Amino acid sequence: MHTRITALFGIEHPVIQGGMHYVGFAELAAAVSNAGGLGIITALTQRTPEALANEIRRCREMTARPFGVNLTFLPVVQQPDYPGYIRAIIDGGVTIVETAGNNPQKWLPALKAAGIKVIHKCTSVRHSLKAESIGCDAVSVDGFECGGHPGEDDVPNFILLPRAAEELTIPFVASGGMADGRSLVAALALGADGINMGTRFIATKDAPVHDHVKQTLVAASELDTRLVMRPLRNTERVLNNAAVARVLEKEKTLGSALTFADIVDDVSGVYPRILQGGDMDAGVWSCGMVAGLIHDVPTVRELIDRIMAEAETIIRQRLLAAL
Ligand SMILES: Cc1cc2nc3c(=O)[nH]c(=O)nc-3n(C[C@H](O)[C@H](O)[C@H](O)COP(=O)(O)O)c2cc1C
Repeated sequence: MHTRITALFGIEHPVIQGGMHYVGFAELAAAVSNAGGLGIITALTQRTPEALANEIRRCREMTARPFGVNLTFLPVVQQPDYPGYIRAIIDGGVTIVETAGNNPQKWLPALKAAGIKVIHKCTSVRHSLKAESIGCDAVSVDGFECGGHPGEDDVPNFILLPRAAEELTIPFVASGGMADGRSLVAALALGADGINMGTRFIATKDAPVHDHVKQTLVAASELDTRLVMRPLRNTERVLNNAAVARVLEKEKTLGSALTFADIVDDVSGVYPRILQGGDMDAGVWSCGMVAGLIHDVPTVRELIDRIMAEAETIIRQRLLAAL
């Protein structure tokens, strides 16, 4: 399948694996790229720029295909060493960066000067247009369904994607709720040039996370996510568990008096215990409504091959036959 996204990134299939904290290690990124998609390493999971440089090297040993690095700009007081991470990306010869979390304008000149293509992930048409105006090469449009941070506008992809298509000139992928060939065909129909998946890639054999996480996703339904931190305007879609219940209870009782400090134990620094340790109640962790469409744990290659085959069948058989 050829779209503006496959052309832009030099990939075979228009399928991207979005950056994921404590999931987006070299193993997963390389597996996605080797299967013809675009795999992405998550920079901030690596404690230092040196550790990221090493992760990039490990990924390059596992794949000869293009892969990217996610740089998430966090709303925290103690800022990570972004210049150091950018240096590691450039020196590591990475050609694609996914930015997210905040306006990447400050960092674009360095990335563009190194010939790096930038895809910015955002949750609204206005932020997509901003990304286009500052020189991003593509946008990942993250609908309300998505795992992680859906923003505060709550516009689902059935509206957000065609609105993005009405306004944008640069290519964009549909992110949030994407799982299979049906998602890909629908995304293309709504004007996108491909799909970005997070949650679906966690339930694969190649994802370097504890088996409890994968089985929890298989067991979960589309009703099992919750939104936390809305009172802090830092809304996150997470899988419901004991920690989420605690956070929601605090949000209810403290109301507008809630501060980050009130919930920090349940939301900060918990990912290693959940994703690598398999302790599913250790804290809150991002998960999309798409959990309801996850019924198995294939390899990344099986998943991507299946998506592409299903998309082709839908287009050639169901859609053409309907005309
Ligand atoms: C466990 C998990 C961790 C994530 N961590 C990040 C992150 O560190 N940076 C980022 O930009 N997006 C992060 N995301 C969001 C994904 O890159 C992607 O945009 C999102 O999962 C798409 O929605 P989906 O889960 O419905 O596919 C995370 C998602 C999940 C499920």
